[in-house]
Amino acid sequence: MAEAEDKNRVYIFDTTLRDGEQAPGFSMSNAQKLRMAHKLSDLGVDIIEAGFARASQGDFDSISAIAKEVKGSTICSLSRCNEGDIEASGKALAPSDNKRIHVFIATSPIHREFKLKMSKEEIVDRAVAGIKQALTYTDNVEFSAEDAIRTERDYLAQVLGAAIEAGARTVNIPDTVGYTTPDEIKDLFTWLLANVKGADKAIFSAHCHNDLGLAVANSLAAVQAGGRQIECTINGIGERAGNASLEEVVMAMRVRGSEYGVHTNINTPMIYPASRLLANITGQSAARNKAIVGENAFAHESGIHQHGMLANRETYEIMKPEDIGLVKSNLVLGKHSGRHAFVDKIKTLGLTLADDKVDTVFVAFKALADKKKEIYDSDIEALVLGEGKVNIGPWTLTAMKAYSGQEKDFNPSAEITLTHEDGRTVTQTSKGEGPVNAGFEAVKEITGIDVTLENFKITAVTRGDDAQGTSTIHVRYKDDLYHGQGISTDVVVSAIEALVEVVNRIERKSAANHDARIHAQL
Ligand code: KIV
Ligand code: ZN
Repeated sequence: MAEAEDKNRVYIFDTTLRDGEQAPGFSMSNAQKLRMAHKLSDLGVDIIEAGFARASQGDFDSISAIAKEVKGSTICSLSRCNEGDIEASGKALAPSDNKRIHVFIATSPIHREFKLKMSKEEIVDRAVAGIKQALTYTDNVEFSAEDAIRTERDYLAQVLGAAIEAGARTVNIPDTVGYTTPDEIKDLFTWLLANVKGADKAIFSAHCHNDLGLAVANSLAAVQAGGRQIECTINGIGERAGNASLEEVVMAMRVRGSEYGVHTNINTPMIYPASRLLANITGQSAARNKAIVGENAFAHESGIHQHGMLANRETYEIMKPEDIGLVKSNLVLGKHSGRHAFVDKIKTLGLTLADDKVDTVFVAFKALADKKKEIYDSDIEALVLGEGKVNIGPWTLTAMKAYSGQEKDFNPSAEITLTHEDGRTVTQTSKGEGPVNAGFEAVKEITGIDVTLENFKITAVTRGDDAQGTSTIHVRYKDDLYHGQGISTDVVVSAIEALVEVVNRIERKSAANHDARIHAQL
């Protein structure tokens, strides 16, 4: 087996920024992807699939920035087996001295006939040519046979053998449509490892989608049969029902180490901070009952369970919250806490903050401590993940009043004042179904940006009457989906802040497009 001198090591290939980001509702800006990539490297993932370089200029730039800045993990870009794609990946990855190009082509009969309209031989030739071209940029090339699970076994073995002979170090067997079962994939990996020519020269990888809820079980079954790379995502995000969840496969192999007899290099206390960062960036939290990182994963509500836990934690706990970086501590910071204690707390919580952001977040912390009696860990987490929520304009919410009530003939309303960086200050009073709706109408009226609200959620950051509330909104503007977040001890203010964040993003994007058009005309 190439590369893996340690035959029991399973490589973790994270595709949160590629397969994950591809899913509706999970798009990230380039700055957010870079922040996430740093976190993935702190988590110790072996390979970060940073994107699909040829997909767009934005993807190309983001892969380049990650390749330049993020050390410690191999940085990878996806390409179809064609010259343009591979060249784009090679160029985007150029700044990295630890890179991988991942080439793929579909192999199943349905894809051959209806999507590619290519013969079996043409597909093998294309795969080999793609791998050879990728090798001119790096000796670390991975090949994927898309829809491998629905491919005839003999043909799959032929393609993978040709890929290894052409120089692919890793061969990936995707369950593109989430169709397989643990028994079936275990049998397939066992058979492939015995029948693919040169199998001992490559790492065999599993890439499982979750359409039947089996992605994690299937990935683990592939490992039992000798697979030594798992492709997965944080919180299991990904196309349709998602990909195998990184935290679940990693913790299963760790907690049931003697069952699987393998290990990974994942720094597990970074799992929870990575999951929370992704949720914050995308505005999509993991389900409350999600294994490992869901809010209830370590909560013991019933009396019987609590009694057992007090007697011995292992009565109801198979792993410790600390193992995944869930630090449960009491409030320790208040308005008299200094910068040193604040930075220390950030580290204890497994959070990271760039040096140039510390001052801003510390100022936001002091402002919050003035308003709120008690500062909990989750308050600190919200401040750090939002990086102190500095509004970068062009619009700023400078004042607002909202009226709600239940009297007959009473109409809720909101008076909103926004200031634009060009010097305009505009006040608008609007009516609505409630104060939030009225405030949204006023913001849309002032900015002229008529978004459609698709989803609106308020969550309390901590317990207590004076808890901060986070408002997360998802809106549609023209054909694009945007999300914004606001955080305040007043939930109506947090909702309006969330919309202001979104209209700012839309206005900045259209200004950038306008500049690009003018530039192109010059
Ligand atoms: O699901 C899939 O087949 C993929 C490949 C591109 C690896 O994501
Ligand atoms: Zn996939």
